[in-house]
Amino acid sequence: MIRARIAGTGSCMPEKVMTNFDLEKLVDTTNDWIVTRTGIKERRIAAEGEFTSDLATRAAERALEMAGIPASEIDLIVLGTVTGDYPWPSTACIVQNNLGAKNAYAYDLSAACSGFLYGLGCASDFIQSGRGKKVLVIGAETLSRILDWTDRNTCVLFGDGAGAVVLEAAENSETGLLSTHMHSDGSYLDLLYQPGFGTRMMPSVQGVETGAFFLKMQGNEVFKVAVRSLTDISNEALAANNLSAEDIALFIPHQANKRILEATAKRIKMKEEQVYVNVHRYGNTSSATIPVALDEANRAGLLKVDDNVLLSAFGGGFTWASALIRWS
Ligand code: ACO
Repeated sequence: MIRARIAGTGSCMPEKVMTNFDLEKLVDTTNDWIVTRTGIKERRIAAEGEFTSDLATRAAERALEMAGIPASEIDLIVLGTVTGDYPWPSTACIVQNNLGAKNAYAYDLSAACSGFLYGLGCASDFIQSGRGKKVLVIGAETLSRILDWTDRNTCVLFGDGAGAVVLEAAENSETGLLSTHMHSDGSYLDLLYQPGFGTRMMPSVQGVETGAFFLKMQGNEVFKVAVRSLTDISNEALAANNLSAEDIALFIPHQANKRILEATAKRIKMKEEQVYVNVHRYGNTSSATIPVALDEANRAGLLKVDDNVLLSAFGGGFTWASALIRWS
């Protein structure tokens, strides 16, 4: 049986740090409120002239370097993002050109915070079908560009960043991606979305005046569905692999809010030391949170051969997804 295995991980966070104290100067908020409600202490903000494709390219270069695989050997690039450089063409095509990955075809995938895990699911199917052997999966965002910096309900929660993995085909392998699961429910669209910039509302004075080009979220409603969906998707992944919580060496959930992570971990009976958390340093970087955390954990030596690693995400759409990896 062919499985996809992770041959390399990489990430790239912008240099500029914005702390909660910086935000106190912009909106009516406090460090104490943000830390208590979300666990976030600071986030990274892309520099002027630094775009999603730049962060994605650097993350991909680091993942390729770790894998020891030249860009020319990549068959496919899948990039999860809701903040691409242009409405079209895809940011994945820009990254393909930046990397010189001339033999890859490339596309963007829009699944908000589940974008990276949707990408992993597509890439795993692609490799298992035998269609190709090496895939770059990237999650990259510059959410700071679609935030309303006068809205304290949203601007304190998000940040910019990118993470990437190189997948390669492994024949007859007991390790690698054991399972991926993906779900969607479009009935929740208006709880978390960006009303403008699509063809329903092209750039207009009215759009600017109503703030339609910014991310909109009904936070407390999203919170409830996020905990429920992350719990369900994590249990689904465990059951599909005949595993229980204690079999998991590291659980990397989407880093949206520390309270969501804690509530989910408690429901699936995961101990604090099993859960990877970096939301305090980066906030919610949407599709980038999981590959960035995976790269940090990998480079810190937290992942050993045969460790079971559970990844679970939830995001706008709504979308939710999981991946279970046996590390190699
Ligand atoms: N500083 C101070 N006060 C604030 C701030 C702020 N930054 N933001 C909101 N408040 C106020 C509100 O105005 C409200 O005041 P009121 O009671 O006078 O009306 C009060 O705090 C409570 O607001 P709630 O929204 O009820 O606060 P809650 O405890 O739900 O926390 C939060 C808000 C942090 C947004 C929480 O609901 C949350 O994390 N939701 C999930 C968000 C999320 O994870 N989204 C992303 C998932 S999907 C994806 O990643 C794209």
